[in-house]
Amino acid sequence: MKTTYGLILSAFALIISFSSCSSDPLDLVTTVTEGDFTIALPSPPTTNGQMNLTAQFTTQNIFKGKSSKVLGYQSGSILGPTIVVNTGDVMSVNLQNNLTETTNIHWHGLVIPANMDGHPENVVQPGASFDYTFTVAQRAGMYWYHPHPDGHTAKQAYLGLAGAIIVRDAEENALNLPSGEFEVPLVIQDKRISTDYALDYSPTMNDVMTGYMGKYITVNGVYAPFKSVKTATYRFRVLNGSNGRIYNLGFSNGATFKVIGADGGLLTTSQTVSSLLLGPGERADILVDFSTYAVGTEVFLVNNLFSAGTSQGKQKFNITKFIVDTKVSDSFTLPTTLSAITPMAASSASRTRTFDISNMEMSGMGSMAMKGMHRINNKVYDKNRIDEVVAAGSTEIWVFDNSTGAEPHPMHIHGVQFQVLDRTGGRGSLIASEKGWKDTILLLPGEKVRVIMTFSNNKGLFMLHCHNLEHEDDGMMLQFEVQ
Ligand code: C2O
Ligand code: CU
Ligand code: CU
Repeated sequence: MKTTYGLILSAFALIISFSSCSSDPLDLVTTVTEGDFTIALPSPPTTNGQMNLTAQFTTQNIFKGKSSKVLGYQSGSILGPTIVVNTGDVMSVNLQNNLTETTNIHWHGLVIPANMDGHPENVVQPGASFDYTFTVAQRAGMYWYHPHPDGHTAKQAYLGLAGAIIVRDAEENALNLPSGEFEVPLVIQDKRISTDYALDYSPTMNDVMTGYMGKYITVNGVYAPFKSVKTATYRFRVLNGSNGRIYNLGFSNGATFKVIGADGGLLTTSQTVSSLLLGPGERADILVDFSTYAVGTEVFLVNNLFSAGTSQGKQKFNITKFIVDTKVSDSFTLPTTLSAITPMAASSASRTRTFDISNMEMSGMGSMAMKGMHRINNKVYDKNRIDEVVAAGSTEIWVFDNSTGAEPHPMHIHGVQFQVLDRTGGRGSLIASEKGWKDTILLLPGEKVRVIMTFSNNKGLFMLHCHNLEHEDDGMMLQFEVQ
């Protein structure tokens, strides 16, 4: 067993090398000759809120017939189980750390006590375990979980430690949205592999600048899957679980779809779109109507072109193939009103804080202590510094300002769900998925966004960071204390 572990460890190349700037355009997606769209889309197993997760070295067939070395929360799987709970449930999760370095779990989007939130210093040592116990006190939505140890979040999440959380509540249940086989989670992640198909995490300086992007787009842990569907409406719960890649989701035939929800649950009403931009960490709840398709039709979920700085959006590629294979009669109709969301008035905020995320500090480049190219208010994350102090229960406006920035940044706040007041510069308006509760908001170059939120009464330290995970580990993260 020891020997196997040693081999696996060396294959992972856990030591980050900044030695060379890559000229290989790794942001460009490519296809493998055999195996494209021949693996059936799996869904991770579901569990209730009481379970054990074991962070471990394991393997999974990401590519057809090829075993890839990955990290997992369960044996034989790159993604953890999908946790399905109801509002009010107590979650009790035992994390056993069988890695050779510290790890922890952050419950992305859940509003829970600070000591359960996976603060980067609140880690579990190798061989040790920790019980996460808290009550899910918020509305229905898709949230997710992943490690958050300082400087190692990107690598651990990328190598396979992540999973989805679906929270249900009475308001949503009453809508009778597509369920069972018609409700499908889609966790989209891009990967690089080494020659033996092991996942490869070895960011160069250039990767830290752009975010670590891979040539192979995986969904629910497998590369280029297909899914057989019936002539009915499907509810896809999409999570962009990629480290750095943004997707502009659409369909190969240009078909429209309905956006019904975002990070923090359902919108007030659906919005019909033909493409939707989803940044790392963001979720989208979409309805896709296959009812008018002839049996035998094939249509791809694709990434459409988009404009977001120099490193992304310049290539159209397929993500998942849907094959319409069964005729059924579908009587689904979507209610006009989905959810009650009271818009928060800017005037209700007691304070406005501005976070400049345009900074690009090149002075550290080339040195081995490579941290701090990406900053917030010109600061690099320091565990010994509390950057902001917020009163429990207070309402504030936070401004993310990427006006002079050249890179996209998906900004994420822990411990709270916010509403987006407005976007100025760049796209100049809000997209469909930004008109509900959010915890992560994408800023393209030139954009400034105002978000408004009421902090909970959970006191303690929470994080604010870019969810491009290379940027986060590079230090594009601050901490705030709720007092
Ligand atoms: Cu999903 Cu602090 O992150
Ligand atoms: Cu989070
Ligand atoms: Cu960033």
